[in-house]
Amino acid sequence: MADTATEKLPVVVLISGRGSNLHAIIDCAASGKLPIEIRAVISNRPAAAGLQYASAAGIATEILDHTTYTDRARFDQALQAAIDRHAPALVVLAGFMRILTADFVNHYRGRMLNIHPSLLPEFPGLDTHRRALESGATEHGASVHFVTPETDGGPVILQAHVPVKPGDTEESLAARLLQEEHRLYPLAILWFAAGRICVDDAGKARLDGALLTRPVDMADIHDLPC
Ligand code: GRF
Repeated sequence: MADTATEKLPVVVLISGRGSNLHAIIDCAASGKLPIEIRAVISNRPAAAGLQYASAAGIATEILDHTTYTDRARFDQALQAAIDRHAPALVVLAGFMRILTADFVNHYRGRMLNIHPSLLPEFPGLDTHRRALESGATEHGASVHFVTPETDGGPVILQAHVPVKPGDTEESLAARLLQEEHRLYPLAILWFAAGRICVDDAGKARLDGALLTRPVDMADIHDLPC
């Protein structure tokens, strides 16, 4: 974590596609409200649109095409080496669409965050917007959590809630939620950079030293960085 008010937290961001969360994080950092230095953006897909935005912002980008590796473990080892060359204090998964091996995840224990488009533990995995609509839920949301070997199963720190409205489609619901994700992720990263959140020895998330018995609702936070 950053030692002083002026020191910036070194971060590596992993993406697979569009990169709108990456975009929001870059813009928040550029505004001076998020004290991080994004040392690299790494994508497992060569065509990930987010790479272009990162390059335009002057951030180093790398492509590790998972289809060129014989198995998951070898890809994860190469990815770990690529990440660690930048010596990040935090690894940010921003739409990184890969199941990760336990060895990889454990290497970044307590220093890897993910954003997931559901109110975890509801709807881990894919197609969260469709599943939320099919369930008849009146509320949907997004979660930022520490990453553990169980996919989308790590301790949740922050959530953003949105209403499900009559006539919503997967697309309309996803678009409403994405706007909230773009405010939620910078907040979680800010808290990490400030040393406010961590995972304790029991694997539980703590905020300001206190056990988080439930995720913080972004609606209760009145000083969002972006
Ligand atoms: C977001 O909905 C995020 O919650 C999920 O993947 C999507 C990534 O979108 N993990 P983007 O690439 O950041 O635009």
